Amino acid sequence: MEEINKLKQELKKINAEAAGIRDLPTEKRAEFGKAINAKRAAILNKIAECEKALLDTEVLPIDVTAWSGVNEPLPEFYSAEMGSAHPLMTELDRVCDIYQMMGFDILEARQLDDEYHMFDTLNFAKEHPARDGYDTFRTEEGLIPPAHTSTMQHRVLKQFKSRLDNDGVLAVVVPGRVFRNEDVDATHEHTFYQCEGVYVSRDCNMGQMLGILREFFEKYYEQKLNIRTQPGYFPFTEPSLEFMIEKPKDLGGKKGDYLEMLGCGMIHPNVLKMAGINPEEFHGFAWGGGIDRLVMLRYGLDDVRHFESGNLNFLREF
Ligand code: DAH
Repeated sequence: MEEINKLKQELKKINAEAAGIRDLPTEKRAEFGKAINAKRAAILNKIAECEKALLDTEVLPIDVTAWSGVNEPLPEFYSAEMGSAHPLMTELDRVCDIYQMMGFDILEARQLDDEYHMFDTLNFAKEHPARDGYDTFRTEEGLIPPAHTSTMQHRVLKQFKSRLDNDGVLAVVVPGRVFRNEDVDATHEHTFYQCEGVYVSRDCNMGQMLGILREFFEKYYEQKLNIRTQPGYFPFTEPSLEFMIEKPKDLGGKKGDYLEMLGCGMIHPNVLKMAGINPEEFHGFAWGGGIDRLVMLRYGLDDVRHFESGNLNFLREF
């Protein structure tokens, strides 16, 4: 470093010397200028060399993967062989693969959102008690960790609406992590995963929606299923339905054992309008449901709390 400072001082002197060019007769100036430039270039070269040497000596190479207990075996949690994808992530990939095969685009949800996307754009009236129905957490700044993936609907509609002019269809699925201020028990977690579907076209209808959902569940459980719906209520769909499947025999179900898998319906005209889509021209349907529940049924799990527990014995079963 000292060396570099000295060189920089020299450089200053040379620059001061260079100013003397003004006092020289014209015919001597070219020669003088050349000499000064050569001196300057030599000093700049030296400075560059010194800086490079400094970098080589002063920055220690750090191997962040090095295990410092040289003669000890790696602790178990260091071994890449012992690691594996979390079962929910593996299943979420499978879910997305199925939807992608059916022609849907995938967009990931966010983990922090706001009142506008959680409620306003989803046609929840201001001060309406339905806003309380979602047991939302709030940060001190008033932000909301999303209580459902429907917070992404408005963004999806806006981001993909140009598809309607080009292909006449908008078809997007949004997986995401969601959070609710609930009492935790075997069937309720404060943190879980959902998957949202949004479909818009000129002439889509409820029958198509049920066809898509049946296809998805039959692919996911790899068998034919009986499905059923019952009326539901969501401010962002009209009409709204709850979608159920009959629990398959090989997964421990008996005849008539119906499980509610998701909420769905025709997208409310106000939701389309807010995203700049004309509800006179286009119709849409949407659905959203829990991934944890889907996976629990597939693997015969009886306690949702396993997923967030970090319990290695549980995770190693997958
Ligand atoms: N977001 C709702 C929930 O978590 C589920 C839902 C219902 C999503 C209807 C939708 C929908 O997209 O159209 O309870």
